[in-house]
Amino acid sequence: MSAETVTIFDTTLRDGEQSPGCSMTVAEKLTIAEALVDLGVDVIEAGFPIASPGDFEAVKAVADRFGERAIICGLARCRTDDIERAGAALKGASRRRIHVFLATSAIHRQFKLKMAKEEIVRAAIEHVQMARQFTDNVEFSPEDAARTELDFLTEVVEKAIEAGATTVNIPDTVGYATPTHYFQVISHLKQHVRGIDKAVISTHCHNDLGLAVANSLAAVEAGARQIECTINGLGERAGNAALEEVVMALRTRQDYYKVGTRINTPKLSGVSRLVSSITGMIVQRNKAIVGQNAFAHEAGIHQHGMLQDRSTYEIMRPEDVGYIGTGLVLGKHSGRHAFRTRVIELGFTLDDATLQKVFDDFIVLADKKKDVYDADIVALIDNRVNVTTDRWHMKRFHIAAGTGTIPTATVELFDETDQKTVCDAAIGDGPIDAVCKAISRILNVDAVLKDFQVRAVSDGQEAQGEVVCELTVQGKRYHGKAVSTDIIEASAQAYLKAVNKSIAQRPSEVSAPGV
Ligand code: KIV
Ligand code: ZN
Repeated sequence: MSAETVTIFDTTLRDGEQSPGCSMTVAEKLTIAEALVDLGVDVIEAGFPIASPGDFEAVKAVADRFGERAIICGLARCRTDDIERAGAALKGASRRRIHVFLATSAIHRQFKLKMAKEEIVRAAIEHVQMARQFTDNVEFSPEDAARTELDFLTEVVEKAIEAGATTVNIPDTVGYATPTHYFQVISHLKQHVRGIDKAVISTHCHNDLGLAVANSLAAVEAGARQIECTINGLGERAGNAALEEVVMALRTRQDYYKVGTRINTPKLSGVSRLVSSITGMIVQRNKAIVGQNAFAHEAGIHQHGMLQDRSTYEIMRPEDVGYIGTGLVLGKHSGRHAFRTRVIELGFTLDDATLQKVFDDFIVLADKKKDVYDADIVALIDNRVNVTTDRWHMKRFHIAAGTGTIPTATVELFDETDQKTVCDAAIGDGPIDAVCKAISRILNVDAVLKDFQVRAVSDGQEAQGEVVCELTVQGKRYHGKAVSTDIIEASAQAYLKAVNKSIAQRPSEVSAPGV
């Protein structure tokens, strides 16, 4: 580790949750927060407490549980209510931060805020000072900073620091910056803001032009010492800078950047899988660092080079990011002990009850499928973790389908809350449509299927099928993901997971205002 360390500020639970269809329950946020703490992130932005009762509850729960192990942060607009709400949610954390933001660009001043420059400066000062009454760790963000006039940005940042901001974040809210441009903005602030040394300069880059990571790294070169990022690059629209990418770029090119992070990098792949599993957002195969192909060498000439020396074509070691290959691991006769050892090697910590369930699933799978791969085990684990919060579980289903028949599904669901079983049947265009309709009928949910994807988890004809679906209920998007060797079952489970999320969502909840 170099002498200088860059603070990793993770906003998966706030900006990441703003990705369409990625809203999370409090329990899911706690699961991710725990993984982020284990990963070694410095700051967790847990949500926007004023946005909804659910957001408040989540920030409070994360603050109460993890507020000694990481800095827990809550977002607030320049409004008294927002700041008081953030202060209340964070009270239980010994290490807490309030993140106050206000747009500064001409476009936002004119069309969104209808405020003059002087009013913006006054509001920023007043609300940073107000936030300081709740904590001495206050971050200020001039929203849309990358499109703000440099002299005005300089003034606002200077005044925010004078008012007590300890971190000044320079958001590229709309992903408009390019690396050289963003480097110049940060350099300008470093040179012209009086008192800049009293605060940490932070980056917050959106990926609309695919430049979020490059811009964040350019800012580090210019002197920024905090990077705001998300696991798998989740976030508004095209997302934020991906945590795994900025961290591995700084680590792999430490010779160039000469800074380090506190991230425990072998945990990166596991956290990526966890976030993908909870949000239902699939990680593309060729995604840098955590994609399935990130370390796969196909061309013969590459394979030949790799056999001589891995460094010919590999700039990072797969184990440094916890990469799981597709190696054949266990068979039908592997015992519980060997299975447990492999689960641990893959980076998972499961309680005894979950381990037993996953092992039972493994035995069933090994009976159906000759070769069981690491990826299969990971899929089985994904299938079993985080389901405890689902109210409705599939007990069984029966399908009648085929040429000349009307596809019909009979479904029996179990209600964990009222401890009762409910059964109904429906017809559909095909067996998957029928099973989804039967679930909707039982739960009286008016869901519209928007996206449906099936992929093989591993190689071979007997591969397990993973289904990811996205549906809307009353205009809100929900994701579900499930795996099985039977794709109708995987489809039904994925659909049920998404419907469970829509049921868990409180009707009173509103989406985050104004971000
Ligand atoms: O993109 C943005 O500007 C934000 C701010 C709230 C920091 O998310
Ligand atoms: Zn953002």
